[in-house]
Amino acid sequence: MAERNPSPAADAERNPSPAADAEKHDGSSEGVTEGILAALQELVSNPLNLVLLSISFYLLYKIYKDYFKKEEPRVPRPPPLPKMVKRDFTLQELRPYDGSPTAPEGRVLIAVNGKVFDVTRGKGFYGPGGPYDVFAGRDGSRGLGTFALDAPASDAYDDLSDLTIDQMNQVREWEAQFEEKYDLVGRLLKPGEVAHDYALDEEESAAEETATIVRDASPKTSPAAKKTE
Ligand code: HEM
Repeated sequence: MAERNPSPAADAERNPSPAADAEKHDGSSEGVTEGILAALQELVSNPLNLVLLSISFYLLYKIYKDYFKKEEPRVPRPPPLPKMVKRDFTLQELRPYDGSPTAPEGRVLIAVNGKVFDVTRGKGFYGPGGPYDVFAGRDGSRGLGTFALDAPASDAYDDLSDLTIDQMNQVREWEAQFEEKYDLVGRLLKPGEVAHDYALDEEESAAEETATIVRDASPKTSPAAKKTE
């Protein structure tokens, strides 16, 4: 009996109206849910995806963990440090600048492609416990170029000669990004290289500037006046 006189609801299920059919095909909530479920299934079925997902969540948590902190009484931020006097660094001289309380002025320095940057402004990223603290007080070129967050295997100078062209381009991209965002402090010295004397440069350019001012300020003598002299 039930077979011969189906209920309107059962009938609607068997023969969906054109409107209901269209709804199903043009992104209805059912279609969207199915899509999301399929994507999630695909994501969870591959262990590598799971690992990458966990790393992403972990890094995002480390970057934004301040947002999860309970409201604490506000401590006034210390005023920004003055710009560092320009100088070159050996790897050993760079090491203490890791943002820890014992670091000179608490600063964080990172070398990228031979240039040393003061990244103290980004202490949340590079300071102790930050997501990228592995680069603090070090040459970050290899890690940045290869997207690896492992501590360098040795403290020896790294000439990056085994990096691929793509990895070196990546290093240069990071270098450009750091140049835009942070102060350039000096250069990372290769073994045996001598530090440049930037103070001498400044003295020279100051002397040049003074000479220009004196030249411009002196009374102009016309060629005619010169003849009578
Ligand atoms: C695996 C997943 C990763 C996620 C989800 C992630 C996420 C992020 C986010 C959201 C920012 C920007 C934070 C902001 O400006 O507020 C950021 C910045 C950054 N990330 Fe990652 N990251 C990942 C992996 C990596 C890796 C592998 C490296 C390097 C080896 C890296 C190095 C950096 C650096 C250097 C910055 C810039 C910090 C600055 O502006 O000084 N990240 N990351």
